[in-house]
Amino acid sequence: MSIIATIQRARQEGWALGQFNMSNLETLQAIVAAAGQAQSPVIVGVSMGSLRHIGLSYLAGLIQGARSEATTPLFVHLDHGADLATVKACINIGFDSVMIDASRYRFEENVRVVREVVELAHNRGVGVEAQVGETWDEETGEEIESRTDPASVRRFVDATGIDYLAISFGNTPGRVEGAAEVDLALIRACAAESPVPLVLHGGTSIPDDAIREAIAAGAAKVNIDTAIRQAVTGALRRAYAGDSGPSDPRTVLSAARAAAQQVVENKMQLFGSAGRVP
Ligand code: G3H
Repeated sequence: MSIIATIQRARQEGWALGQFNMSNLETLQAIVAAAGQAQSPVIVGVSMGSLRHIGLSYLAGLIQGARSEATTPLFVHLDHGADLATVKACINIGFDSVMIDASRYRFEENVRVVREVVELAHNRGVGVEAQVGETWDEETGEEIESRTDPASVRRFVDATGIDYLAISFGNTPGRVEGAAEVDLALIRACAAESPVPLVLHGGTSIPDDAIREAIAAGAAKVNIDTAIRQAVTGALRRAYAGDSGPSDPRTVLSAARAAAQQVVENKMQLFGSAGRVP
């Protein structure tokens, strides 16, 4: 089953497919292991920052390794793709899905940029996500929140042909844990207008109850990045507090990997994707 069909299935059945962003080998291993443990399909997200950190050719090898180790359906997705060249490069190394984020532009320009990616991606059997409404500029970090107008949702989806839609609803990607004041009424209004499933970004910042309600309203993909990175850095901090800590970094990286795996497994339970392997 493709990523598009899996997200559609999740929407019909009232659960969400988690996108968990990798930063390095250990976080990728943690995501794959968590999916196996929870018997959950999974999306491995790759942000622009991770693309730069890892490099395309190393990433291609890591993805190949993850696919051969995975025991549940695993999809690889470009998170907040910045431009067409990056989208093409990711498709060429086997990504199943891409996000092109042109949400900082005016509506018509957003549509034009996304439409171009949809034509390219769909010809290669690759799913496409885009966003209408802005949270903050992924490249510059500039805060330019303008929440999604439900009246623009159907027009955007129809004009672009995307497969799943990210919206801005008070979420705070990459910022605080469980503290965003999300607008559930806005999520419901967008879901009612959207012909395709909704995507929640900033999953770390959204309180658990709000996640459950948003999924019940029609969100079928939830993205998590910060919580995984915090699990890793927390393990590193604990190991190297003061002047102590093992000289073999693999000892600490193993603990960090285990902590990241636990975070992903917990989110899979929260999203209701655990036990959903067909
Ligand atoms: O696309 C990635 C997500 O927006 C990540 O959000 O860092 O708050 O988990 P998060």
